[in-house]
Amino acid sequence: AFVDKVENILRPLDLTDERYRQVMDLMRQNLDAGLHPDTHATANVKCFPTYVRSVPDGSENGDFLALDLGGTNFRVLLINLNGQEVTMESKIYIIPQHIMLGSGDQLFDHIADCIFKFMCDHQLHDRRLPLGFTFSFPCRQEGLDRAILTTWTKGFKCAGVEGNDIVELLHAAIDRRGDMKNVRCLAVINDTVGALMSCAHSARNCAVGLILGTGTNACYIEDLHNVKTWDGDYNEPKQVLINTEWGAFGNDGCLDFILTDFDKSIDKHSINPGKQIYEKMISGMYMGEIARLAIERLRKHNLLFEGEGSYHLSTRGRFYTKYVSEIEGDDVDNFTVTKQIFEELELSTHTEQDCRLVRHVCSLVSKRAAYLASAGIACLLNKMGRRDTTVGVDGSLYRFHPFFHDLMMEKITQLLKPNLKFKLMLSHDGSGKGAALVAAVAARLRKEAE
Ligand code: BG6
Ligand code: GLC
Repeated sequence: AFVDKVENILRPLDLTDERYRQVMDLMRQNLDAGLHPDTHATANVKCFPTYVRSVPDGSENGDFLALDLGGTNFRVLLINLNGQEVTMESKIYIIPQHIMLGSGDQLFDHIADCIFKFMCDHQLHDRRLPLGFTFSFPCRQEGLDRAILTTWTKGFKCAGVEGNDIVELLHAAIDRRGDMKNVRCLAVINDTVGALMSCAHSARNCAVGLILGTGTNACYIEDLHNVKTWDGDYNEPKQVLINTEWGAFGNDGCLDFILTDFDKSIDKHSINPGKQIYEKMISGMYMGEIARLAIERLRKHNLLFEGEGSYHLSTRGRFYTKYVSEIEGDDVDNFTVTKQIFEELELSTHTEQDCRLVRHVCSLVSKRAAYLASAGIACLLNKMGRRDTTVGVDGSLYRFHPFFHDLMMEKITQLLKPNLKFKLMLSHDGSGKGAALVAAVAARLRKEAE
């Protein structure tokens, strides 16, 4: 009876192959809708053209500043490109919660302050350095240096930014200070583009960039004739990187057939209800919370910890995604780490069986996340139809989860058309490197135009 009760509560998290295939087909319809002008306005998966047309060719060089905003850490970087060689220095700056939820001017003033401090520390004030900005939020781009934020995602909600060009806002903040006239932003990219660009620097067949971190998203190289929303030129190369913003997949209810009560509860209590539905089932900002809700339900039915909970276990957001990774990576012979986490959560009564069951919950949640992301990637690879593609991947979830990579390899292989091959390649410092590479291209184009 114990097993049946557990099974009843957890079954909704365990999706069949059939379901993942449906998700893959739906993703395809959503991508097509985003790429077509007739359906783009109402599409959930926006498929924004990025104005990045080619991957680096190794000829990029010089010193660049870069900003990296939207992941776990906000960073300012100084990057030197010298052919295949890239060196960088970076510093993490804190963005306090009140700024994440404050006004846009406060946010950009803070960013400008951080750039200033960084330049002082590195004695860069007399240099004229092009800046590349990795801004990991959905933007409608009107050029490399014009990016209009459509909606905040993840934990940000600064007033007065949506609908505006973030380059203008950054420059306005820099001008308000008055002491950094030399700093000008030449290019804005999404973190997915950074991951793709940095991997393409060494793997020429890299054509997809994937982020599995605080949020999730993917970009890929599309033929211009498939991008019916494209308003730029048709010069060679006849392709453009598309930022899919697939996190918003499901916002119209098309994924309701797989949503669990846990997913619905997370959405309801989030700062963006009804938005980023696919992202909320996959990414690091939410995965721990899905597990917590499932654990709590088992506990309330006396199936865990003899029904004994704790203040922490009942607190929203308190079961971190890193716990999921740690528990799944734990040694099942002694559960040392798992027990330590139980202590942290002040769960005093726990047995070996509790350890096993919590681990099982974690593995169901991360397996579903990995398989859902795989359905998205398989959809892109099938759509592109390239014989052999490298997918550049970044993000804390992919990096730190012990099996995410393996789970994805298995599922993508299963969903892929026969004869297509792929690799998942970890991107190193994609956001910094990518921003510098794109800024380098923009700087060259500017010089040529002068
Ligand atoms: C990092 C980048 O490597 O990956 C970030 O520097 C990016 O800018 C991130 O957003 C995604 O992962 P996370 O886990 O930090 O959200
Ligand atoms: C969110 C953002 C997207 C970003 C992703 C990963 O989905 O909207 O732009 O790429 O998180 O950081």
